Amino acid sequence: MSEALYASAAKYLKEQIPEHYHAVRLAVICGSGLGGLVNTIEQSTKIEFAYADIPGFVASTVAGHSGKLVFGFLGDQRTPTVFMVGRFHLYEGHTVQECTFPVRVLKLLGVETLVVTNACGALNPEHKVGDIMVINDHFSLAGMAGESPLRGKNLDAFGPRFLAISEAYNYRLRKLAFKAALKVGISKDDVREGVYAHVAGPCYESRTEARFLRMCGADVVGMSTVPEVVIARHCGIKVLGLSLITNPVVTARGKDAKKEVLTELGIETVVDDEVDTELMKADHEEVLETSARRADDMQSMVKCFADLLAENPVA
Ligand code: HPA
Repeated sequence: MSEALYASAAKYLKEQIPEHYHAVRLAVICGSGLGGLVNTIEQSTKIEFAYADIPGFVASTVAGHSGKLVFGFLGDQRTPTVFMVGRFHLYEGHTVQECTFPVRVLKLLGVETLVVTNACGALNPEHKVGDIMVINDHFSLAGMAGESPLRGKNLDAFGPRFLAISEAYNYRLRKLAFKAALKVGISKDDVREGVYAHVAGPCYESRTEARFLRMCGADVVGMSTVPEVVIARHCGIKVLGLSLITNPVVTARGKDAKKEVLTELGIETVVDDEVDTELMKADHEEVLETSARRADDMQSMVKCFADLLAENPVA
């Protein structure tokens, strides 16, 4: 991707948005089923662009991700905000540079803070379906294996060749997020903090893959977010990451067929204390269902976060 392509997308948008959106400093990437936030925006102030019409944007292909960029005023403080409703994933066949293209366009529009939301599966057995997790670190197998959005020629105008990513998720923004969650009435036990593991998908994890990710320190797993966060941090955008837990991930070993046959034939009696967790396997309907149920809370939380941020700007 050339600098000129990012610039032409930003120019296309700037030419069409009214003056008050030239001061847009906040962006929100809406994950699976979380695009409802834009319905809370006053209709008369809303401006929408289909991704397909913006230079350099590829089209989103996932059900539940409609694919548009929306400008509007968010919350009681009427913070000018740009929303990505729908995002791009590696599993759709896009390159990681295509997936993260919009983030640099947001930078060129003036965005300083990015709220990234997603749906994810829980690896940590204490995390319940419906909990909201504030991300405090990440782990990307795809990134470590070479699918980094920063691979290739560095665009120095955006950031450095070698990026320090150890403080990707801004501490003060995380504190504001917890304050917002409590303020809108989300129970302290339903809002968590932890590590997001990024996988390329589209398969949900095998049991062994899930155990591997858990052993590596991850609390949840999903197929998005990290590439966007890397690009945002590269160009100095502050990041808040919010994960909605939509399903448990099976980490237990499955039934042992050999033990069962030996027992059936009376050769040896072996107690198999592993649970058959077949019924717990992740499915996309479950992800969408949980998102729909809990999305309202997540939306209230993001709105309140925007108000708190307007009152307490984070340098
Ligand atoms: N794994 C990966 N991605 C996901 C999951 C999951 O269990 N749930 C929602 N997105």
